[in-house]
Amino acid sequence: MDDARDVPVDEFKHAGVRALDWIASYLSDPDRFPVLPPIEPGAVKAALPESAPDNAEPLDQILDDYERVVVPGITHWNHPSFFAYFGITGSAPGILGELLSSALNVNAMLWQTAPAATELEAVALDWLRQLLGLPAGFAGVIMDTASVSTLCAVAAARHALSELEIRERGMSGRDDLPLLRLYTSEQAHSSVEKAALVLGLGQRGVRKIPTDNAFRMDAAALEAAIDEDASAGYRPFCVVATVGTTSTTSIDPVPEIARICERRDLWLHVDAAYAGSAAIVPEYRHLLAGCDAAHSIVVNPHKWLFTPIDCSALYTRDAATLTGAFSLVPEYLRTSVDGEPTNYMDWGVSLGRRFRGLKLWMVLRAFGAEGIRKRLANHIEMAQRFAAWVDEDPGFERLAPTPLSVVCFRARPPELSSDATADGAAADARLNEFNEKLLQRLNASGEVYLSHTRLNGKYALRLAIGNVRTTEAHVTRAWELIRTTASAVLDQWQT
Ligand SMILES: Cc1ncc(COP(=O)(O)O)c(C=O)c1O
Repeated sequence: MDDARDVPVDEFKHAGVRALDWIASYLSDPDRFPVLPPIEPGAVKAALPESAPDNAEPLDQILDDYERVVVPGITHWNHPSFFAYFGITGSAPGILGELLSSALNVNAMLWQTAPAATELEAVALDWLRQLLGLPAGFAGVIMDTASVSTLCAVAAARHALSELEIRERGMSGRDDLPLLRLYTSEQAHSSVEKAALVLGLGQRGVRKIPTDNAFRMDAAALEAAIDEDASAGYRPFCVVATVGTTSTTSIDPVPEIARICERRDLWLHVDAAYAGSAAIVPEYRHLLAGCDAAHSIVVNPHKWLFTPIDCSALYTRDAATLTGAFSLVPEYLRTSVDGEPTNYMDWGVSLGRRFRGLKLWMVLRAFGAEGIRKRLANHIEMAQRFAAWVDEDPGFERLAPTPLSVVCFRARPPELSSDATADGAAADARLNEFNEKLLQRLNASGEVYLSHTRLNGKYALRLAIGNVRTTEAHVTRAWELIRTTASAVLDQWQT
């Protein structure tokens, strides 16, 4: 019964070589594709059969359809002119790590079910910890995303309120519980608020602290908010600071925030999902200043560390509280391994866990610390140069400082903003509309992909650099395209 087994190994090998050839050619030249596919919603679905085939189809035929139907419907995050959101890289060593981990198909829930996966995860995370300059007391675990890492960190913060016995007694139907409050800045990622939703704290369990003119959390306002809440009967329990906010990459004053948390005995979680990696570069080590006093910190290798999605590193110096929040060991998951090795299922929500440590380990080795530093520094340099071009051009303006590799800016043609002083709001409304049109036109070109945000009511374009294949030439071309497209939109606007 050959057809009751896996695909024959010869066919696998033939298709595998073809797939690898395709990947190699894709990686050597991803800009042969438009970065955003020129397709309408529903186009990919319409090109596919409505139900699964009754009979086996050859892998070659499936790969034909991958090239014919799937690839043209892809937004190419690996394109060197992908400047939207945060630039990421599916690097060659990371892709090989994914391939090999899916071949092993281990479930890294217990040490015994995946000894090498468990230990390699710990080793790769400890290498990364050292590169980031975090103290040895921090132990790590790999989650799928920063959203889940933050969820688990906030769950640990809640569990640290041991006298409330939330693990045992829950939160609903209790009139002996104070309102728990978590603090984060108004620029924090939505995953912080989402963690509060999931953990039953609700939106009123989150107090958003104002930011200064560089979009950093105002530490004095944080302290005042905590005091005000405490006297109103709330129970402040956690602060989530951000190192590299999503819109502008602003950096909250973690040392000051850490001191406030220490005085008030609050759990400090640092969301360094994007910017944490930059601390590997000696000149940017200071980004994580104060984080040694945090209880937990998340850094995403799948953002700015060349590791294919998904891979989020959560570190804590209080692993006992994190595992205390999550560990639940039914009989069928008990093992009798000597030495109490780490069972990563105890560190979070999921039981089943992929072997993500392999790709991270392969990336760290294949690039080396020096190679990583060079690539990150190069991204920052390119972004700084772009920021200078924006500053020098009277038709454009920067809308936020550029501490790292993301530039927030807008076109500001004098024709549309000359009466800005007379009526700033009206000029801003016009500029918002203009910049929205500009972004649509740029992205429709297929040459570049940028995203946007809104800063103090102003529609801002974001150019984010984070892919290892992005060169000076791509950034120069993007700037040229932005300027010529802005002129074209202006011409149309005025007719
Ligand atoms: C600062 C920050 N935190 C968290 C996240 C969420 O990341 P993930 O997609 O890994 O959940 C993002 C995503 O861009 C982010 O910018």
